[in-house]
Amino acid sequence: MPRSDLRGAHVLVTGAGRGIGDSFVAALLDRGASRVYAAVRDPRTIADRASAYGPRLVPVTLDVTDADHVGALSAEIDQLDLLISNAGREGSGNVLTQAESDARDLFEVHLWGPWRLASAFAGRITPATGGFIFVQSIAALALSRRGPFYSASKAAATMMAAALREAVRDSGLTVTNVFPGFTDTGMLAGEEVPKANPRSTADRTLDAWLAGEANVFPDSFAELVHERMRGDLDEALSTPGAMMAELYASYVDGQPNR
Ligand SMILES: NC(=O)c1ccc[n+]([C@@H]2O[C@H](COP(=O)([O-])OP(=O)(O)OC[C@H]3O[C@@H](n4cnc5c(N)ncnc54)[C@H](OP(=O)(O)O)[C@@H]3O)[C@@H](O)[C@H]2O)c1
Repeated sequence: MPRSDLRGAHVLVTGAGRGIGDSFVAALLDRGASRVYAAVRDPRTIADRASAYGPRLVPVTLDVTDADHVGALSAEIDQLDLLISNAGREGSGNVLTQAESDARDLFEVHLWGPWRLASAFAGRITPATGGFIFVQSIAALALSRRGPFYSASKAAATMMAAALREAVRDSGLTVTNVFPGFTDTGMLAGEEVPKANPRSTADRTLDAWLAGEANVFPDSFAELVHERMRGDLDEALSTPGAMMAELYASYVDGQPNR
């Protein structure tokens, strides 16, 4: 079971410069974490926040696809209570025509990067009370009609995290996968759809991790898809396009002020 709260915790957050990652950083600092390593590709982008938060916020350089960056970071950080693998990228395309290099890059960012980090840090996470959070997507479970390789890479990452959960179970570490739906970040800029607040996603996820939960569906669209798949996994696997089109329509229709 993880710690009862995050006071005094040492936490690494990837993709920490904006969006859900930035919300994790703010939530962790608000909850009394004593050191938050904010991993970003370019630390200059968070210089203003680093000076506002003071020494509890430590900007570190990390492109998750770069093994040398991961090696340097693991040499710099001795001990962590929680590693939050959040970095990710949008990935739309056609399953037959998407450039192979682009499809492979989605796996680099979503699967191999988080795996490399987990391997590097697993031995330095506080036994019994520490653990990992992996930011996946509802698209890991139900096909994204717009981003088939985004879905495939998040699905692969979900299984990697599930395997990690089994591997570290005896050390008492908690591994939580979070499956957000539409969330109000740069990734969905310009998209006309009701979106969840990223701070709420971060808070719900941290609460779930603290409660020892394996999976989190942190917003109303994620809950809708999860509920439907619990009832009919066959439909999700055999006709995902039709299922997601129907769920999307009922989600949009059900939003207030629409
Ligand atoms: N927004 C949604 O609707 C939604 C829904 C489901 C799941 N998610 C997942 O939530 C996570 C956070 O996304 P977001 O919505 O907060 O999007 P965002 O605002 O676009 O932020 C993505 C973050 O990931 C970082 N990043 C991308 N590639 C990276 C790499 N190779 N190495 C290190 N950092 C990298 C970006 O860094 P730079 O600032 O350097 O570009 C940025 O900080 C992602 O894993 C995404 O797949 C989002």
